[in-house]
Amino acid sequence: MRIPIIAGNWKMYKTVSESEAFARELAPRLAPFTGVERVVCPTFLAIDAVARALRGTDIAVGAQGMHWEDQGAFTSQVSPAMLKELVTYVIIGHSETRQYLGETDETVNKKVKAALAHGLKPIIAVGESLEQNERGETAAFVGGQVRAALEGVSADDMRHVVIAYEPIWAIGTGRSASGQQANEIIGGSIRAVIAELYGDEVAQAVRIQYGGSVKPDNMAEFMSQPNIDGALVGGASLKVDDFVQLVEIAAREKGR
Ligand code: 13P
Repeated sequence: MRIPIIAGNWKMYKTVSESEAFARELAPRLAPFTGVERVVCPTFLAIDAVARALRGTDIAVGAQGMHWEDQGAFTSQVSPAMLKELVTYVIIGHSETRQYLGETDETVNKKVKAALAHGLKPIIAVGESLEQNERGETAAFVGGQVRAALEGVSADDMRHVVIAYEPIWAIGTGRSASGQQANEIIGGSIRAVIAELYGDEVAQAVRIQYGGSVKPDNMAEFMSQPNIDGALVGGASLKVDDFVQLVEIAAREKGR
């Protein structure tokens, strides 16, 4: 039985004080939903304040990215050795970091291995562009991203890996994939590639989220799909009521 996981990716939103106040408000409202793993990913700057605000709760904190080296002359970067004092999860390979910050399949793979080596749980984001989608290349492209991200990752470490399928055309656009489309890619491409690489047992245990314009009014459509184990949420994770509703719907649909 895969435990559903809902993660809020706050992107470059909320100051430190706003993030902390938000976390304090969110914590008691999310407390009842213990059958769903709940994660918030603030900016680097706000991680410490949010982690303190959530101490003693079972809401996890994640980072939105990291470098793969432990330390070094990498101006502006944050390392896994630094993050592991504060967070459980780290998003790797988000399409915005691929698009704006030079992230490649190769750097994604280095970061995934570095995260795992430090005991961090990577949420690996994959997803196709609108053009690739329209050309019918989604399954092959996304499958390739998964293969590249997991190169050299052991079957044992796969227990700590979460994958997020986020079609680029659905991010922040209000235009989400349908539940059925997302379920097909997640099951037929992503989980199938994992099965090919690691066998069925590992593939059945890995949690795979959908992301891209997830809102309270479409959440049930995604959560009712057998292959979708949760959501990676941008916009709707910035509002307490919406985020709580998403978790509530996940708990209901997944019977937790
Ligand atoms: P939106 O939910 O705002 O579309 O963002 C999705 C996303 O990129 C989460 O990582």
